[in-house]
Order: sequence, then structure tokens, then C-alpha cells
Amino acid sequence: MSNNVITSSTFVRNLSHGTLRKLADFLDPNDTWKTVLGEIPNKSTGTPRYTQLHLRRFEGLVSRGKSPSTELLYDWGTTNATVGELVDILVGLKLFAPACVLLPDVSKPTENVTALVNQDTAPVSKSTPTEDTYVDPGFCRFSYHELMKVTDNWDDRPASMGGNKIGEGGFGVVFKGFLNNTRVAVKKLNSMDDISPDELQIQFNQEIQTLMVLKHTHLVNMVGFSCDSESPCLVYEFMPNGSLLDRLACLDNTPPLSWHRRYVIAVGTAKGLEYLHSNHHVHRDVKSANILLDDKFVAKISDFGLTRASSKRTSSTVMTEKIVGTTAYMAPEALRGEITPKSDIYSFGVVLLEIVSGLPPVDEEREPKLLIEVREEIEDEEMELEDFIDKKLENVDLSAMEKVFGLACRCLHERKAKRPSMAEVLEELSDDLC
Ligand SMILES: Nc1ncnc2c1ncn2[C@@H]1O[C@H](COP(=O)(O)OP(=O)(O)OP(=O)(O)O)[C@@H](O)[C@H]1O
Ligand SMILES: [Mg+2]
Repeated sequence: MSNNVITSSTFVRNLSHGTLRKLADFLDPNDTWKTVLGEIPNKSTGTPRYTQLHLRRFEGLVSRGKSPSTELLYDWGTTNATVGELVDILVGLKLFAPACVLLPDVSKPTENVTALVNQDTAPVSKSTPTEDTYVDPGFCRFSYHELMKVTDNWDDRPASMGGNKIGEGGFGVVFKGFLNNTRVAVKKLNSMDDISPDELQIQFNQEIQTLMVLKHTHLVNMVGFSCDSESPCLVYEFMPNGSLLDRLACLDNTPPLSWHRRYVIAVGTAKGLEYLHSNHHVHRDVKSANILLDDKFVAKISDFGLTRASSKRTSSTVMTEKIVGTTAYMAPEALRGEITPKSDIYSFGVVLLEIVSGLPPVDEEREPKLLIEVREEIEDEEMELEDFIDKKLENVDLSAMEKVFGLACRCLHERKAKRPSMAEVLEELSDDLC
């Protein structure tokens, strides 16, 4: 059965495997399915259908590589439960995104989506809010059609030629648009190259769930999303100064960033990463293309599709079989499949090298191709630091450069235990900020 013929009276047992997988992408993370399980009633008595014993049984399935949400829905489906009953439970728990997978019109009372994940299990910062931490009232759910209109029918001519396309990445195209008189960036996700629709869906969910709970001046702000078509879309605040990668390369003839501006961007990025790490998250794709700049050049970290919540201790390591990220920025352990905040610190080291040199992280025409290898040449005294510094910088303060270069090298230590923490990086960078 396909998604577009699902109605309130459809039996849960008749949902297709693909739909169950989509639901599981929302309900498996953070054990959200357990809250759903707690709300399922026994049809004849009205008391909860499932006991702790059942819950343990579903938990046991996780270790066998099964999705507890899917197994739960198979089981409940045997009682002739309907989609309407399931959606009522999801909406009651404010789990609007999975509800919208089943019935896209479920938004009536809930245009403002305030919780896709269970509040209790959400990794929201329990630490004292800093001046950079704020709480957003929620995301909006748009229809695909609405977003199509604001982007002039997905006009993919470059903005410089009067079109709406402002960028393109591995997961889709980014368009500019106007929503309620506000400029927004709409990322329309598409399966490309080696990314399957299922993987894309997982990244979409991950991005929403992360930006729902993590809010910070130095993280990009999400305005909303749409999930009622084959191409899920993410809507962000528009960043007029594009990415750090493009501004360092002076793309579209923009003037070079001054040293002071670069330094403030480095500090902002470090603050955003420190916030992520102190909230037990690993970004996994830190790179200058994912550092966006607002109208005042304030750094905003973007792209949380690969972000993973780590366990309580920030230093803990999780293994994955799927190696993701951008190779030129990847720490040796990340290339082996480890997920640890220390790999973000390594990638941040590469960004610092880009800030000092103005060079891209990888250049097929350059010898050596990788920026991290150029750094090795300086350390081995085969090259002078002065020759590495961006020629576009004026009035270079060599001691400041040496300091940032030294910090980059420590972030790039092959052994993760020897790298500084993001808090230490920040302390060191902030010392000098005038
Ligand atoms: N909120 C935004 N405001 C303005 N421009 C944006 C915004 N989000 C993305 N862009 C532009 O679109 C480009 C493409 O972004 P996207 O995240 O799709 O790809 P990427 O970061 O280059 O690569 P990857 O797919 O590996 O993340 C960015 O480099 C940036 O120039
Ligand atoms: Mg990106």
C-alpha cells in the first residue's frame, strides 16, 4: 500500500514496509517508541496494553538488529488498530513529524511543531543557559507546494542570473525564497549518487531532531520543513554571506575576509561546537562549507544530518560501520568508523588551516593536494609559515598567525587523546580576542 492512500481507517497491519521504516526513523532514536508503547491501550479494558515485560522483549530485539518501533507496530497491528488511533497517540505526544508521515493533513491544531522527539529523552542542554543559548518557539511545517511557490517553481538558475539557486551539496539543491516577507534558504533533498531514499530520510529526521533541541547563536536556525512529497525539504534562515569556504575563496568577487573577521568566525565556530559537545552531540561533518555567515558575518554551523548523540560522557566513543563525512577533514579514527567529539576537533583544525592560508582543504592541482599535508611540510621545516599565510591578508600579525597555526596543529594530532577539548580551544582563542 502506498503512502497516498493511507486514511484514518487504514489498519496499521496494512501499512507498507516502507512506511513502517519511515515511522521507525522517527521513533527508534532516543527510544521514542517506548513513550508510544506506554500510550497504547488494551481495546477491551482501556488499561495499557503493554507491560514492562513486553517492553523488555522489544528492547531485546534491538540487539538482534531489529527496529523496536516496527516490531511494536506489527504486534499492535494484530488487534486491528487503525492509523487514526496511532496518529491520535502520536499527536498527543506531540510527535508531529511521524504523524505527518501517515496523514499529511494532521497539522490543523499544530502548525507550529514544537516537539518531534520526546521532551524527556531529548538531549536538551541541562546546563545553565549562556547568553548564546535561547529557546525557539518551534518549527513550521510547510507543504511542498508552498515551498515550490516561494522558490519560483524551484528556479534552478543561479541567483546571479536571476534564478533562485544558491548552492548545491551532496544531498540536494539549496534555493532562496521569501516566506512572510522573510528571506529563507530552502534545501530540497534529493537522492543522488550513492545515497538511497531511506538514508536521505534518516538524515532529514536527524537534522530536524537535532535542530529542534539544540539552539545556539552559532548554530544555523531552522524555520521549518516539508515532508509531504518525495523530496523532503528543510527551511532555514537565509545567510546572506554564504559559506566560509566561498568567502575565503572570494567567490563572486567578494572582498577577502580581514584577519579580525576570520578570528571572530573561528571563535564563533568553536563556541557552537563546544555547545554541541557539552550537549553530547558529535557533528561529524565540520567543514568550511558548513560554516555559514549571516549579515554581520556571525558564524553559524549547519548540516546536522550526520550528527549523532553520544552517550552522557563527552569523551565516549561509538563505532559505526558507515563511514561518513568529508575525507579532507576526517580524523584517522573517523576514517576507521569511530564516532567521537575529538574527530570534530580534528576537522576544526583543518578549518583553522583554511582561515590562516585562505586555501581550500583539497586541491587536485596542488602538490600536496591536502591542506593537512601542507601543514606537515611546515612542521618538517620544508616550508615557511610566512609562505603559507593568505597573501590576501593585509597587515599580517605573525605572532597571531603562529598562535592559530600552533592551535590547528594540536587539533590535528594523529592521536585523539592528545587533541585539546573544544572548551580548551575556546579558552585559548578567546584569550586574545580584542
Ligand atoms: N541557510 C543558508 N543560507 C544561505 N546559503 C546557504 C544556506 N544553506 C546552504 N547555503 C548554501 O548552499 C551551499 C550548499 O549547501 P549544502 O549544505 O547543500 O552542501 P555542502 O555543505 O556544500 O555539502 P554537503 O552536502 O556535503 O553538506 C552552501 O555551501 C551555501 O553556500
Ligand atoms: Mg552543507
